[in-house]
Amino acid sequence: METMTRSKAIALEEKYGAHNYHPLPVVLSKGEGVYVWDEDGKQYYDFLSAYSAVNQGHCHPEIIDALMRQSKRLTLTSRAFHNDLLGEYAEYMHHYFGYDKVLPMNTGAEAVETGIKLCRRWGYRVKGIPADQAKIIVCEGNFHGRTTGVISFSNDPESNTDFGPYMPGFEIIPYNDLQALAVAVEDPNVAGFLVEPIQGEAGVNVPDEGYLAKAYEICRAAKVLFIADEIQTGLCRTGKLLACEHENVRPDIVLLGKALSGGTMPVSAVLADDEVMLTIGPGEHGSTFGGNPLACAVTMAALEVLKQEDLAENADQLGKILRQELEDIPGDLIKTVRGKGLLNAIVIQSPNENAAWEICLALKDNGLLAKPTHGDKIRFAPPLVINEDQIRECAAIIRKTILEFA
Ligand SMILES: Cc1ncc(COP(=O)(O)O)c(C=O)c1O
Repeated sequence: METMTRSKAIALEEKYGAHNYHPLPVVLSKGEGVYVWDEDGKQYYDFLSAYSAVNQGHCHPEIIDALMRQSKRLTLTSRAFHNDLLGEYAEYMHHYFGYDKVLPMNTGAEAVETGIKLCRRWGYRVKGIPADQAKIIVCEGNFHGRTTGVISFSNDPESNTDFGPYMPGFEIIPYNDLQALAVAVEDPNVAGFLVEPIQGEAGVNVPDEGYLAKAYEICRAAKVLFIADEIQTGLCRTGKLLACEHENVRPDIVLLGKALSGGTMPVSAVLADDEVMLTIGPGEHGSTFGGNPLACAVTMAALEVLKQEDLAENADQLGKILRQELEDIPGDLIKTVRGKGLLNAIVIQSPNENAAWEICLALKDNGLLAKPTHGDKIRFAPPLVINEDQIRECAAIIRKTILEFA
């Protein structure tokens, strides 16, 4: 697209905004349910859902209602004072997820940082690891956010090149490799294992069946905390409330973000039982906005929607239909179809290394928005409120587009 013909919004962003993203050239100005509209009024299916933050669909009326109501009453007190919703929210989260306590934060990366601090604290104060020796095991291909702490244990050069020096105390092992985990946790200074139940950013890497359950067992036997980053996989995205439930795993620490607020504001949360959570005391961790009453009201509404609309079941059923439809697309441009629930990806095989990007541009022209991840993979993750007719229509758009390239 030439600069002259770009919409003003793109030109302004380019000129005055940092160049830390490379968006598809579409300017969205409205969203409702599974649809978004651009500034010319063209309608699209949203097949990214803001990286799974809009599981409940754009501008869900009940979530927006909660946002509007609470925003006129009280939005922020900081934690210097109590507010009349945080206690109710904490109790709600306890009953909803079954953990003793919640620690509220804002972004996903902050939840990860919080999980790391809790894990290290527990390592020193409960497990008895000598001072400053605690180690956390992570996986190759991980994506847990963009803070300097989190990129210290990324092995993606795009994430960490020239951002060092890196924080020590992490060991990277291959994903989906139980043997490597078993060896790693032999070190008595290992406090935790931080893992995505499915690696989202890496291209929807689904581990072998049994991996999470066995990994949990290995951790438990070695007195190592199992920390599940469910920021992308959680909240019904994969067909269960938490992706770990597919293998009946109850992590020691759960990290949540994104769809907690149904896409209205940054809300994240860390869940743990008292043995872990109470290792952090007053003044030792926090955030000005964490636990604000606006976020509490919105999050309870957003979680109610997941339950009332049975979005886990919908994701499970429609995910199966979507993957079948994608498998049925003829030709060899699609090398792999993979995913769980409505967190899916296709891997493109083509001599043209820009093929995935070009396919996404064509999908856009055909009315569906998706974005490549790591070059040759395209993630398909629509809002979970999508229905069967819509998912079949989307599959037809993808089929038509892929066949245009074949
Ligand atoms: C698994 C996972 N963890 C953490 C994050 C970071 O979340 P945020 O961008 O809200 O900081 C993401 C974001 O994509 C993610 O997918």
